[in-house]
Amino acid sequence: MQTVIVLDLGGQHNQHLVRRIRSAGVYCEIMPYSTDIERIKALNPIAIIFAGGRNSVLDTCSLTPSILNLGIPILGIGYGAQLIAHITGGYIGKNNTPLVNAQSLELCLASPLFDGIPSGSATDFPLTVHIGELPKGFSSLATTSNHPFAAFANEQKRIYGIEFSLEQYEYTNQIINNFLYKIIEAKGDWTMANFVASMTAKIRQKVGNKSVLCAMSGGVDSAVAAALVYRAVGSQLTSVLVDHGLMRKNECQEVIKVFRDGLGMNLILVDAEERFLAKLAGVSDPETKRKIIGNEFIRVFEDEGKKLGKVDFLVQGTIYPDIIESGFEGAELVKSHHNVGGLPSVIDFEEIIEPLRDLFKDEVRQVGFELGLPKEVVMRQPFPGPGLGIRVIGDITKDKLDLLRDADAILREEIALAGLNEQIWQYFAVLTNMKSVGVTADKRTYDYTLALRAVTSIDAMTAEWVRIPYPVLEKISTRISNECKGINRIVYDITSKPPATIEWE
Ligand code: XMP
Repeated sequence: MQTVIVLDLGGQHNQHLVRRIRSAGVYCEIMPYSTDIERIKALNPIAIIFAGGRNSVLDTCSLTPSILNLGIPILGIGYGAQLIAHITGGYIGKNNTPLVNAQSLELCLASPLFDGIPSGSATDFPLTVHIGELPKGFSSLATTSNHPFAAFANEQKRIYGIEFSLEQYEYTNQIINNFLYKIIEAKGDWTMANFVASMTAKIRQKVGNKSVLCAMSGGVDSAVAAALVYRAVGSQLTSVLVDHGLMRKNECQEVIKVFRDGLGMNLILVDAEERFLAKLAGVSDPETKRKIIGNEFIRVFEDEGKKLGKVDFLVQGTIYPDIIESGFEGAELVKSHHNVGGLPSVIDFEEIIEPLRDLFKDEVRQVGFELGLPKEVVMRQPFPGPGLGIRVIGDITKDKLDLLRDADAILREEIALAGLNEQIWQYFAVLTNMKSVGVTADKRTYDYTLALRAVTSIDAMTAEWVRIPYPVLEKISTRISNECKGINRIVYDITSKPPATIEWE
């Protein structure tokens, strides 16, 4: 697979840039600017992109200038373009004039980088410095009234710079495509079908005739990871699904139906409801609940592992954003288990397999479809590890969980019926610990208040509450109050994140 490397100095849009390059059909990895040049060379990249950053290039940067002499094509964007000018002897000046957004870009020299892009497009330069003079050997490709070197190149060395931001630019995809296909003539071999083929071959080779264990949570990542490993090694894989009694209605049965009955996977369902509820009895502090659920999960998994005897490999559904967030540690498909937090080191296994560690969430979903998993599994909304344990506010009992399960199922059913399930990122019900007075069939009731929550988000860091149409809310409210005995009041949470979080606990 051909690889493009994006060198990152913390620009907030750099992950997005990597995704754009991958969507254009070229595999792309993000690495810090401080990455050792030998490590970069070892990956044999077809191009390197110096990405944007919030700092000024006049501050220190650990980039080795020799990276420009490797003969590998380079594209600098924003800060990255200024860095090229800076380290090759150009002049960088401070911006004295206030930043002017939406400057018109005039093309002044024909270059394949701007193929299909007309003069006059609007650009913006969210930077504190500007390129005042180009280094020797470089020519200006485009200018604006304030930026004489808004884009520049040394075509002979195939080094390009774009000083303006690509994030809001109308022709970003065109520029990326021009760079990938007209300048570096990439093959465009990054497809999920290729990924599945090469990853299954790698897993098969690694595993040989040994045994593999996977903990499935019902979530997308572990489901796709398990299906991929199953495609590679079939019955050598055993998957374990722990039913902690905090799942949504029919959730375990649905996982069994798809993976055991449908795919024929060896999937063990562990009924651990009593264990979990016993440990959680009388506990109402959210953090304590989370800790108990996490610890007990490990204990249950451990007990199952012991029953299976020695296991050679453990599968984890780690995905690329997890790797980026943990500081780009390690790049191999397999790493030894002492590196991994969370899952039990007490289980006797040799290594961890993380088959999705190079993929973004949308790519994981595409792989899921490629493997033939149904839409309900692949497009499943996020669900927290502690499950309904953090959606029953205060202390947890089986009765409360059952009541919440029924109400939540109605909410999900009605959202799907209204055709909103693919637009809303996450939607669920919360059983509050507040009771209030109501009246049903002329009789006074004193029952629970249920809260409905629906948010849109991209990465769960921020979220906005969804304006669900009133008729849909009305139907949900009527059905829940008629069908769920024990709930007499339903409220809709109209708080975004921040200031609230998505979950209530
Ligand atoms: P908050 O409530 O922090 O949630 O805004 C952000 C996203 O994370 C999910 N979430 C969790 N997921 N284990 C998980 O795997 C957890 O303990 C957990 N807590 C929250 C939440 O559903 C939302 O999508």
